[in-house]
Amino acid sequence: MLILGIETSCDDTACAILEASGSLQKPNFKILSNIVSSQIQIHSEFGGIVPSLAARAHWKNIIPVLEKTFKESKKKFNNINLIAVTKGPGLPPSLVSGVNTARLLSFIFKKPILGINHLEGHIFASFLNLQNSKLKVQSSKIIFPAICLIVSGGHTQLILMKNYGNYEIIGETRDDAVGEAFDKTARLLGLGFPGGPFIAKLAQKGDSSTFKLPRPMMESKNYDFSFSGLKTAVLYLLEDLKKSGKKIDLKLKANLAASFEQAAVDVLIEKTLRAAKNFKAKSVLIGGGVAANQKLRETLAEKIKKDLPKVFLKLPEAKLTTDNGAMIAVAGYFNWLKKKKGDDILKLEPNANLRLE
Ligand code: KG4
Ligand code: ZN
Repeated sequence: MLILGIETSCDDTACAILEASGSLQKPNFKILSNIVSSQIQIHSEFGGIVPSLAARAHWKNIIPVLEKTFKESKKKFNNINLIAVTKGPGLPPSLVSGVNTARLLSFIFKKPILGINHLEGHIFASFLNLQNSKLKVQSSKIIFPAICLIVSGGHTQLILMKNYGNYEIIGETRDDAVGEAFDKTARLLGLGFPGGPFIAKLAQKGDSSTFKLPRPMMESKNYDFSFSGLKTAVLYLLEDLKKSGKKIDLKLKANLAASFEQAAVDVLIEKTLRAAKNFKAKSVLIGGGVAANQKLRETLAEKIKKDLPKVFLKLPEAKLTTDNGAMIAVAGYFNWLKKKKGDDILKLEPNANLRLE
């Protein structure tokens, strides 16, 4: 079947057309088009996302993005069998743009529609392959129980997934999301927005053992996280260094970026591995923008190989970890296989605080 995925939960206006077939045990996907219109330029001067500007940009971009999505896929609207749209969580004015567009399309063209949890989209992104990609998706199914680590600009959660559609949030951040910590730290270092990719690039040139930064809640018995203290530690460290007359040059910034990245990765991995052990997970999945981080991917792969060799790590393509329509379409397919029918269009509404439970 052909699925139109629509994603507008935050600052990306994204649509995709996905060809999906097969069963829950053996699904097959092919991305026919995947268009993302980024709003980075609009928000970067504020160093963060401004909801009212995001909504306005979605309103402006959604039609051109849809047009491009169809053009690239060489499909017509009549060919579409299902519309999958992000209904939450996210910024309310942003969610409204996508949900309303999808509802109207569903109403006019008489196509079934499914409202999708954005985080479920991030989890299912690991089923997708880009054409000409080097990373082959290692297995088409999830072996349950699975531990999913969601790391994005808005969320940091550990989820126990017992089956398709069966989720339990076992831990989450008590303050900032890890992506937010990357973004705020990048701002302290005078880097660009969003900060994650800038920190990661600079960190490659630095030495992560230069500065001893805290690993908040790493030893706590639960699976919760806290990242605001880590960012504040960078702030105080920078202030102290400046006061002592130290020049904040590129070398120092690279060492600080590497030390910060290592601290964040250490906490994420420690808790994920502990959860995988304690819940006897057969697989570990990661998703969300921070899952593009090479340090996190490599270290997680190494640790799992060493400490939990029987656990299967399902990694998404780095380019598909940030928000896109294809991941919403994949989640739409899994929901369709389970429900076999669309949502009631009159009852489908955005929910900014939607939880995966
Ligand atoms: O999933 P996403 O596109 O949007 C949300 O749902 O929040 O994630 C965006 C976040 C941003 O905070 C960005 O800085 C972070 O993902 N990010 C990274 C990397 N690429 C994106 N963080 C660390 N390393 C990266 N390579
Ligand atoms: Zn996201």
